[in-house]
Amino acid sequence: MSNSSGTGTPALDLDELRSRFTEVFGAVPDGVWQAPGRVNLIGEHTDYNEGFVLPFAIDRTARVAVRFRANSAVRMLSTFGNQGLTTADAHVLDPATARGWTKYPLGVLWALQQRGLDVPGLDLLLDSDVPRGAGLSSSHAIECAAILAVNELAGGGLSAHDMVQATQRAENDFVGAPTGIMDQSASLLGAAGHAVFLDCRDQGVRLVPFDAEASGLVLLVIDTKVSHSHSDGGYAARRASCELGADVLGVQALRDVGLADLEEAAGLLDPETFRRVRHVVTENDRVLQAVELLERTGPEAIGGLLDASHASMRDDFEISCPELDLAVDTARSAGSIGSRMTGGGFGGSAIALAPAGAEQEVRDAVGRAFARAGYTAPDIFRVRPAAGARRLA
Ligand code: GLA
Repeated sequence: MSNSSGTGTPALDLDELRSRFTEVFGAVPDGVWQAPGRVNLIGEHTDYNEGFVLPFAIDRTARVAVRFRANSAVRMLSTFGNQGLTTADAHVLDPATARGWTKYPLGVLWALQQRGLDVPGLDLLLDSDVPRGAGLSSSHAIECAAILAVNELAGGGLSAHDMVQATQRAENDFVGAPTGIMDQSASLLGAAGHAVFLDCRDQGVRLVPFDAEASGLVLLVIDTKVSHSHSDGGYAARRASCELGADVLGVQALRDVGLADLEEAAGLLDPETFRRVRHVVTENDRVLQAVELLERTGPEAIGGLLDASHASMRDDFEISCPELDLAVDTARSAGSIGSRMTGGGFGGSAIALAPAGAEQEVRDAVGRAFARAGYTAPDIFRVRPAAGARRLA
């Protein structure tokens, strides 16, 4: 068994995954594809406002072994959770009956069919060490691994850009989560030692150096164990507020509102919508500043931006929760140079950028604070910017 640092489902190595596939399905897989989860360094709830984000692919991945079949039967199994086979028919894909993680690969098949690709049945074995429900995009990791596999086996010829669109369609219209394009872009386009600076309006991408450990820092994920789902109401409600704000301000998207416009916006919007808008506008600005600082100085320069981003999500966008706030505040007082919740919010994980020498104190202090508050013990682990999705075998 191989495993990356921290806790979570242990990952099978490649040979173990292939022999497990052969045992279960009675034939060798056509190939194995892998796609990482992501941490968003900064730029939250800006993607669907056509703004800027700065996520990175992490060294935690979903891997799918896949074999195309001669008929339309789909059979799926994971190495974790319920050990029974899930079956479906590739010609009759129905979101209402898709359960658990299987809705992600099924959503991908559906989205590819919507684009006119003829996708047959298949056997799929999933293994993943991306913690689930932790705000690290375990679902997009599965979707990206699955779309790479199916695109290649079906000769779909899709570009990374097409795959970003198709996985968004799968999420929005099959899974039922009205999410943007950040997560799959990070998973598909990430690179070791870099964050992915993405302009969500034109999908322009620039890799920005982000190697915390080379600067004597560590990037810790603090998984609060408060689970969240973007198919629930909170995420959609924030998205609706942003659309309302853009409408009232007469712009295509909040991307078109600048810091200098906020004063006037305050007079035009109701107080709650104004706070939502202010978060998006200031967050876009923080992403641009973070990119500049990373390129000019290095990771040690962005701590203040991470803190400001968290305060904005807590007070203006109101998507934090007591566990995330405690993680962030404690990490800060224990020596981190910056800390914020990451991902869609309402639970999931916080990140803390800390000097390597303060790592143990941050871990201990957060653990103690959670115990004192009577919260479930958090999982705390390091992540590093890693390569994006690819074929393994
Ligand atoms: C989730 C969504 C992303 C993005 C973030 C918030 O991760 O999948 O598209 O909107 O929330 O930044």
